[in-house]
Amino acid sequence: MYLLRKQFDAVVAVFAVIFILVTCSGRTESETLVNKDDVYLTLVNKTHELPANWEKLVQIDTVKNSLDETIQIEHKTYASFLELREALLSEGIQIELDSVYRSVEDQQELWDYFTEEYGEKYTETYVAVPGYSEHHTGLAVDIFVIKDGKVIRENDEMIADRKDFAVIHDHLAEYGFILRYLEGKEEITGYGYEPWHLRFVNSKEIAEEITSRGLTLEEYLSEP
Ligand code: DAL
Ligand code: ZN
Repeated sequence: MYLLRKQFDAVVAVFAVIFILVTCSGRTESETLVNKDDVYLTLVNKTHELPANWEKLVQIDTVKNSLDETIQIEHKTYASFLELREALLSEGIQIELDSVYRSVEDQQELWDYFTEEYGEKYTETYVAVPGYSEHHTGLAVDIFVIKDGKVIRENDEMIADRKDFAVIHDHLAEYGFILRYLEGKEEITGYGYEPWHLRFVNSKEIAEEITSRGLTLEEYLSEP
């Protein structure tokens, strides 16, 4: 009887360990997401690293822009981008995908290039540390503009092109995009104004609320 009791205890102990392992691994996975209910509202910024399980949560597609450049982008983000592009074409503005999904290695290359070319201060203002870039999600979309046959693609050119970018920004929310790095909110986002960097949030309503209230994603997500 004593032996039977010992065997029973051992079986219970094994089941308990299995239960704890299963429960804990599930919890670890969901806690790596800032917003576990909606991947499209996940925050990646200077203090929030890309969630470790990200690749399992989104579908990254490989597409071409109209200059035949290869781009990787999250599936729904691309479909919505094409709709936004179409709407802007009817206003005489052609937007194109520049850089969307970037691996940590891609980001390191960019970081090294910018540091070499423009110095550390400029790099910290416009380039995320590898592992902390929203581009790792495939939901952050850098665009450039082709206007009257002219390619407007350099950071300074795009910042100076107020008129076209005002029209572009006016249409973002309708297609579930927000402007991510706002002018005047540099202290909150940690980055300089980037008129070219859009973020897909997969909801017209949420994008409209964020945009109409002039919020950053950080501010929106910190509200109760
Ligand atoms: N340009 C943004 C901040 C990035 O590198 O992710
Ligand atoms: Zn960007």
